[in-house]
Amino acid sequence: MKITQALIDEHIIILKGLGFFKTARDRIEKNQHPPKQFFQSAVSFFRYYADQYHHYKEEFLMFGFLARKKEGLLDLEIGSLRHQHEIGRQFLTNVEKSINGYDMKNEIAITSLLENLASFSSVLTRHIFREDHLFFPMVEQELSSNEKKMLMEQFKIEQQELEKRNPLEKNLELLDGMQKLM
Ligand SMILES: [Fe+2]
Ligand SMILES: [Fe+2]
Repeated sequence: MKITQALIDEHIIILKGLGFFKTARDRIEKNQHPPKQFFQSAVSFFRYYADQYHHYKEEFLMFGFLARKKEGLLDLEIGSLRHQHEIGRQFLTNVEKSINGYDMKNEIAITSLLENLASFSSVLTRHIFREDHLFFPMVEQELSSNEKKMLMEQFKIEQQELEKRNPLEKNLELLDGMQKLM
């Protein structure tokens, strides 16, 4: 059983959103002006799907479980992944704060938007690469099949709760909206 497959599949959806951010950055760099609504949808998508749904499952279920099992041996690696989640939240808040100024063509706000889009995308892309290629394979090796079963049960229960608060279709609609607005 592969415990990390659902998380890898979610990364594909998040990377799609990051692809739209890349297009938005390219356009701003050429002095074009993608609509304000694109960034509003993007902030909601990354906040609700990438952070409150995906990162939540990683941090509160997987990282917590591993930290207890390995008693400190993985603290550095888990700490750096948590730090990247946290710093991504800050970049996203800064993106959100610059949207109104950007819409009024305020050059300082446009620069801030560009800066935070780039930082957010770069950190999250590296983060996903490290999880997919280094961290998750290690998780698959470290956990016994019983532990995977246990963790999978927790994922299922928590996932139902998360989806009640934060329905998946809504997030996919936001992603779709980003594509249409770009
Ligand atoms: Fe993560
Ligand atoms: Fe992840």
